[in-house]
Amino acid sequence: MPQTTIRTLTPSETAAALPALAEILSDCVEGGASVGFMSPYAAEDAMPYWKGVARAVSGGETVLIVAETDSEILGTVQLGIATMPNQPHRADLKKLLVHRKARGLGLSRLLMDAAEDEAAKRGRHVLVLDTATGSPAEAIYEKFGWQRVGVIPQYALMPDGSYCGSTFFYKALGAL
Ligand SMILES: CC(C)(COP(=O)(O)OP(=O)(O)OC[C@H]1O[C@@H](n2cnc3c(N)ncnc32)[C@H](O)[C@@H]1OP(=O)(O)O)[C@@H](O)C(=O)NCCC(=O)NCCS
Repeated sequence: MPQTTIRTLTPSETAAALPALAEILSDCVEGGASVGFMSPYAAEDAMPYWKGVARAVSGGETVLIVAETDSEILGTVQLGIATMPNQPHRADLKKLLVHRKARGLGLSRLLMDAAEDEAAKRGRHVLVLDTATGSPAEAIYEKFGWQRVGVIPQYALMPDGSYCGSTFFYKALGAL
């Protein structure tokens, strides 16, 4: 049985993980996921984005979580905590990404559970995310107990350039 570990990365661990994270993001975009970037999108194209994430981790603005199976990073999620001063209790869930070769093994559930734990530790009890309408992720968030708020049509583009809507969700950790 492969061993899966979920870890929250320090700034130095983030720097070491950049090539693996770039490979995962490239794989997701090339697999047709609307996650911010257009196809074609090679791993090297993803490095500037991840270097920005690394700066945000160093600055305490982002919590970066990875899933490793047999020491290979195959999934990731981020918690954005650089909220405005009037939202100290809120966080943004971002970039839940699992490499195609590791899908269907439960990594996204482990990553989302870990993100909720990290949010709770920081007193962030209102979590928000958006995802491409009609994507597999949309169904998964509902399964994980997120509340669907609504859809904004033509919010973004798919990697092939066609429009896609975004569905917004929130999750409260505890009673609101
Ligand atoms: C969405 C994504 C992260 C799911 O990752 P995953 O590790 O394969 O998901 P899991 O194996 O943890 O599955 C979680 C649950 O969703 C279900 N599920 C998995 N794939 C599914 C799909 N395509 N459609 C519907 N349900 C699905 C699983 O059965 C599981 O349910 P269970 O816990 O009741 O058994 C992955 O498909 C991905 O990286 N997609 C591309 C990037 C993306 O769109 N990310 C979202 C950005 S907001």
